[in-house]
Amino acid sequence: MSTVILIGTQWGDEGKGKVIDLLADGFLHVVRPQGGNNAGHTILVGEREVKLHLVPSGILHAHTQCYLGSGMVIDPNVLLQELKQLQEAGVSIEGRLWISPAAHLILPYHLMQDRLLEKAKGANAVGTTGRGIGPSYADKVHRTGIRLGDLLRPDYLRHQLQLALSIKQRELDALGADAQFALEELLDYCQQAAHELGRYITDIESRLQKALEKGEPLLLEGAQGVLLDTTLGTYPYVTSSSTTAAGLCASVGIGPKSVKEIIGVVKAYATRVGEGPFITEMSQEELAQVDHAKWREFGTTTGRKRRIGWLDAVALKSVVQSNSIDTLAITKLDLLDSWDSIKLCVAYRKGDQYLEYLPVYWDTKGWEPVYRHFPGWKEETRAIRSYDNLPQAAKEYLHAIGQFCGASIKLVSVGPERSQTIRVNA
Ligand code: IMP
Repeated sequence: MSTVILIGTQWGDEGKGKVIDLLADGFLHVVRPQGGNNAGHTILVGEREVKLHLVPSGILHAHTQCYLGSGMVIDPNVLLQELKQLQEAGVSIEGRLWISPAAHLILPYHLMQDRLLEKAKGANAVGTTGRGIGPSYADKVHRTGIRLGDLLRPDYLRHQLQLALSIKQRELDALGADAQFALEELLDYCQQAAHELGRYITDIESRLQKALEKGEPLLLEGAQGVLLDTTLGTYPYVTSSSTTAAGLCASVGIGPKSVKEIIGVVKAYATRVGEGPFITEMSQEELAQVDHAKWREFGTTTGRKRRIGWLDAVALKSVVQSNSIDTLAITKLDLLDSWDSIKLCVAYRKGDQYLEYLPVYWDTKGWEPVYRHFPGWKEETRAIRSYDNLPQAAKEYLHAIGQFCGASIKLVSVGPERSQTIRVNA
């Protein structure tokens, strides 16, 4: 049991990057199991900013082996750009980065289909990142996807791409596409990707199993958050991969019994990008107190302004339970420093009906949040380094979150720097 899983417990953007960076020192293997370049965070390498969308942030720790897992969807252009950035920043990749042959490719036609599907949905658009994520996963399930390993099997690649394209072009035409994709051009594109990425493609499952046999510590780094999970999230306003702890295991061939600890990352408040229900979304009056730039609440991938709300402990409790979360890492507490009063949603109410768990159908019409109000601490927390030294009111808020959800708090982040972290002794 040497595997630790780290997942987002909300709609992504919980600040997982910083937590992974803090933890990565203790791991020899860091794996990104699912998702694609819909995720992203910016990290500092010395003076230089590097935007990572695909490569696990563990790559910055020279002793780690990093893996792009079988459950991922990978746009080769984006990956190559990211590798270039890392190399320019002096981060060595050779012999440390491995890509699963079972991960699926995002091809140019997936980007077009993502855009056309959103357009066709009109007012019901999901607000996707437009990176071709859904269409690539859909092809995987339709069994017309192209896998990274196929890049190294030219005959099969030609056969599968021909089949995929014959179906895809009809789908695109039906959606009103004005472009025709040519098989030979796509094959050239794949050949180029094979040339540049081929040496990183290897059977990562067996490498990970060997690591487990030796008891080497392994970190699974989740992307997005559980409320965006295709099955458990706020469907249909979700992403197209499994973002749960169990989903991460399944995406890299690691059995649940190999897992030692599951850490859930949660912001001290809540955000979401894209469309979909958000019962604790702040009122206009409350939002007037939020400076999106100062709070760094613009998406790393699309630059979209994030929607902001109060922490939904009802959703968090369901996520803790359905993911067997042991500990919570609470991020961005400092951004609540100046508020007179803090709200925590502890139930949903419609008339005299109350819900204390996440409903399957997220039709939130008529439902309203029931809040527990906490007095604000009105004190700067950014320089605090021990839990005991936090203002009493902040401790009461944190304690209530842990108690309501049934998980202990592992760490609290009070600023973007590595040092601005409070490790909590359970
Ligand atoms: P897709 O994953 O691009 O298909 O987008 C589906 C939904 O998930 C949209 O609402 C996106 O904004 C959201 N989403 C996808 N990835 C992330 C992420 O890493 N952080 C936050 N939201 C995300």
